[in-house]
Amino acid sequence: MCGITGYIGKKDAAPILLQALKRMEYRGYDSAGISTIHKDNVTIKKDIGRIDSINEKIELGKAEGSIGIAHTRWATHGGVTKENAHPHPSCNQEIVLVHNGIIENYQKLSKELSNNHEIISETDSEIISHLIEEEYNKEKDPLKTLKNVSKKLEGSFALIVIFNDKKDEIYGMRKYAPLIVGIGKQENFISSDIVSFIDYTDNVIFLEDKEIVRVTSNSIEIVNFDGDKISRDKTHVAWEAADISKEEFSHHTIKEIHEQTSTVQNALKQDDEKFKEFVEKLKSGKNIFITGSGSSFHIALIFRKMLTKFVNSPVQAFLSSEAEEYIELMNNNAILIPISQSGETADLLEVIRNVKDKGVTILSIYNTLGSSLSRVSNISLNLNCGPEIGVAATKSFTSQLAIVYKIIFELGEVKNGNEMIIELSKKIKDVLSKEKSLQEIIELLNESNDVYFLGRAIHHPIALEGALKLKELAYIHAEGMAAGEIKHGTLALVEEGTPAIIINPKDESYDDTINNAAEMKARGAKIIGISSENNEVYDHWIEIPQVEKILYPLIELLPLQLLAYYTAIRKKNNPDYPRNLAKSVTVK
Ligand code: F6R
Repeated sequence: MCGITGYIGKKDAAPILLQALKRMEYRGYDSAGISTIHKDNVTIKKDIGRIDSINEKIELGKAEGSIGIAHTRWATHGGVTKENAHPHPSCNQEIVLVHNGIIENYQKLSKELSNNHEIISETDSEIISHLIEEEYNKEKDPLKTLKNVSKKLEGSFALIVIFNDKKDEIYGMRKYAPLIVGIGKQENFISSDIVSFIDYTDNVIFLEDKEIVRVTSNSIEIVNFDGDKISRDKTHVAWEAADISKEEFSHHTIKEIHEQTSTVQNALKQDDEKFKEFVEKLKSGKNIFITGSGSSFHIALIFRKMLTKFVNSPVQAFLSSEAEEYIELMNNNAILIPISQSGETADLLEVIRNVKDKGVTILSIYNTLGSSLSRVSNISLNLNCGPEIGVAATKSFTSQLAIVYKIIFELGEVKNGNEMIIELSKKIKDVLSKEKSLQEIIELLNESNDVYFLGRAIHHPIALEGALKLKELAYIHAEGMAAGEIKHGTLALVEEGTPAIIINPKDESYDDTINNAAEMKARGAKIIGISSENNEVYDHWIEIPQVEKILYPLIELLPLQLLAYYTAIRKKNNPDYPRNLAKSVTVK
C-alpha cells in the first residue's frame, strides 16, 4: 500500500529512485513522483498513471542531485490527481516528504494549520509536511522536529523526509508501517521494501515502530520517539535481484505460479528446533485462534478444519478485519496464529497489538523478511518462497498450505510427511502443463458476468480462493460457496449458461458435491468439474492427479490459478497489477 523510498550517496539519485519505484510498483500504481535536491534547488516531478507512462511524459529519472525521495501511490485520502500524488512539499518548498499510511487526525491538524499554510491537496500526507515546517521553523533541528511531529500524528505512518538546508541527510520515521534502511558503500537507502534497493545491497536495518532514522551517505543513526539512541545490528537478507525478475515469463504472476514446485519444497525447509517448538506450543494451547486476510484467511480456514482433528482445544479462524469478539475471548492461555504473506497487513497487526499485552502466544506464518509480523511473534515460520511481486497471492498461498501440512503431519506423527509433500510438489508441473486444455473454459468465463465456485469441507476454502483469484485478476464477479448452501439462496441466480466450477476430488464429500452440481445443472448452469475422476454431470472436466485426500487442496487450486490468470490475459487485463488493488494492505 504505497511504496516509499529514498537515496543518499554519490550517484545521481533520480535514476536509482526510478528503478526503485518500478520495483515497488506492486504496492500501488495510480500515481508516482520523485523529488531531489541539487545546489539549493528542490525538484519535484509527479503525475498520475503507471510509472513507465509518467516517466515517458515527465522524465522522472532525470533530475539533478544525489539525494532524493520517491513514492508510488495507492490512493486512500483524496482521488487520483497530480496534486494528491507525492512527494508533498512544505509551503516554502524547503522540506519535502513521502508517506505511506493513514493519518487519522488529519482533518483536525489541517484546520489548525490552514491559517498559516496553503494546503493544496486533499491528502492526509500533505498535512505532515506543513506540520514539519511549523516545527522545523522553531529550532531547525530535524530530529527534534520529527520527534515533536510524531507526538502529534495519530494513525500509521512511514515517512521519508528531506530538508533543503540539510542536503547531506535524509530522514525516515515509522509507526505501524514498514521502513527499512539499506546499507550500501558510500550510499544508503531507505524504503518500504527491500526489493527497491536489492541491486545495490542486501545488508539492511529494519526500523522498529516509533523510531526515527537519520541517514547520510556513510552513517545511520536511530532514535526512538522519546529521543533515546537505539543501536541495531544489520541483517543480511538472502534475496537476490534475480528473485524479482520475470525471467522468460510475460508476467510475475505466471512466473510465480510456475515456481510452485520449488517454493512448496522450500517451505518445508524450517529450522528443526524452531519448528518443533512451534508445534509443541500449539499442542499445549488451551484455545487456538487463527487469523488472516484475503487469501491468507482462506489458509486459516483450511488450517482450522485440519487442526481441529489433532488438538484437544477449540480452534477458531477469523478475518483480521472482524476480530472484536475473538479478541475478547483470548486470554493468557490462548495461542494466536496470524498468517500473512507481507507480514504488514494492518488489520492483522492490529489484532496482535490488541492481544499481546494479555500474554497471548503469537505463532506466526509469514513471508516478507523482517516484516512487522515476524518481529512481534513469539515464534515465526517463514514461507521461504522469495518475494511475491504479482499482486494476487499465488506461490505464497501454496507455501502457506505446505507449512500447514507440515504442522499437521508433525501433530499426527506422520513419519514420511515431508516426503509426501515433496512428492505432491512434483505433480504441480504436470497440472500446470495442461494450460492449453483450459481454452474453452476460459472463453466461457470471459463471456460470463457471474461465476460460482463450489466445494465442501476442505475444498470450501479453495472455492473461496478460486473466486477471489478470478475477481481480482479477471474482474468477473465470482462467488466461492460451500456447495451445500446453493439451495439456500444462490440457485435463484442461476441462468442458462452460468458457469459453476465444482471442486470435487474423490473423497467423502464427492457424492454430495456431485448432487449439488446436478442441482445447478438442472437450472441451466454449465458445470466445470475439477476432479481426479470424470462425471456425466460435468460439461467440462479438469483432471487433477489422485493424491492423498488431505493434499487435494493444493493440487486442485492450481487450475483455478491458471483460469484466473488466462482469463485476465483474454480480457487484456494486466494480471500483475489489478485495478484498484495493491499488495501489502498497510492501512485499515
Ligand atoms: C489475494 C491477495 C490478498 C491478500 C491479503 C492478505 O490474492 O493477495 O487478498 O491475501 O491482502 O495479505 P497478506 O497475506 O500479505 O497479509
